[in-house]
Amino acid sequence: MTKIKLTDNLSLSQIIRGFWRLDTWELSTDELIDNMKSSIDLGVTSFDTAEIYADTLCESQIGEAFAKDPALRGKVELISKTGIYKQEINGESFGYYNTTYDRIVRSCKESLQRLHTDYLDLYLIHREDPLLDPWEAGRAMLDLKKEGLIKEIGVSNFDPFKFDAMNKAVDGALVTNQIEWNPVCFEHFNSGMMDYLTVNKIHPMIWSPLAGGRLFQEDDLQCKKAMDKIKEIAERHNCEPDTIVYAWIMYHPVQAMPIVGSRKVERIESAVKAMDVKLEHYEWYEIYAASGQQQIR
Ligand SMILES: NC(=O)c1ccc[n+]([C@@H]2O[C@H](COP(=O)([O-])OP(=O)(O)OC[C@H]3O[C@@H](n4cnc5c(N)ncnc54)[C@H](OP(=O)(O)O)[C@@H]3O)[C@@H](O)[C@H]2O)c1
Repeated sequence: MTKIKLTDNLSLSQIIRGFWRLDTWELSTDELIDNMKSSIDLGVTSFDTAEIYADTLCESQIGEAFAKDPALRGKVELISKTGIYKQEINGESFGYYNTTYDRIVRSCKESLQRLHTDYLDLYLIHREDPLLDPWEAGRAMLDLKKEGLIKEIGVSNFDPFKFDAMNKAVDGALVTNQIEWNPVCFEHFNSGMMDYLTVNKIHPMIWSPLAGGRLFQEDDLQCKKAMDKIKEIAERHNCEPDTIVYAWIMYHPVQAMPIVGSRKVERIESAVKAMDVKLEHYEWYEIYAASGQQQIR
């Protein structure tokens, strides 16, 4: 497994494991431990979660696995996120963004408790908060880093303007932007984010690389058009279509790190096989244009 060096302190496995859907996997703690070990055996050692996933339940379930098998924690790079917060207001749960100093620091400490660990390898601000004060949020992230509670800091879903603002406030310490990209989603190509990251040698983590499973839905016209082409290319390379999608993402010079969202070990294996697929240059563009969203002029 290729490791992507983010800083002298932190490298991630290029294929990352995502635990957003963990609460739906119906795994006992022992089964989750086995599932995690299978990932680690495949070299997929970087694990992604967030405070807001299943309203903190995903972090708690991961923490139960680390508590039961403490050796596991040292074998993985653990990533979590702050900034989307749910609160009981007038008897109803209300979700909103909160990137104030106190909330970030408190969220991090609560995440560490739930995860049964005393540090995170990487801590991200989850979403673009319209009330983001980069100086205040940045100070919180840097203080957590100074305290040794987090090793490195980054953001998620930021556009180039917000990324630049936040990075200025933390003196260039952001090590990644976790963004959505797949054969039917090109938001960050169109915003200029991909160019920004490439020129600054900042490697993005890619969420929903298979469009959250939507890619496989025949009744979704854009997905069907993309998948017809992906299947054709998969036949040429004698592999599964999802392997081609991961190879397509990793072909880009930005050196992206796709996050696999599946619970199934065989689907992690498909992702890992992408490391050995050598796409033709023209094949990258075939997939880029396949859904009809992006044009080659
Ligand atoms: N920063 C953010 O805002 C943000 C947002 C969303 C996600 N994320 C992160 O990114 C990770 C990955 O996102 P994701 O879960 O949407 O990724 P994904 O890998 O695009 O989608 C995973 C889903 O696709 C299904 N799937 C995979 N292969 C399939 C196939 N061949 N046929 C049918 N269904 C298939 C999986 O089902 P099975 O489990 O049955 O295989 C699973 O439900 C998350 O876990 C989270 O860590 C971050």
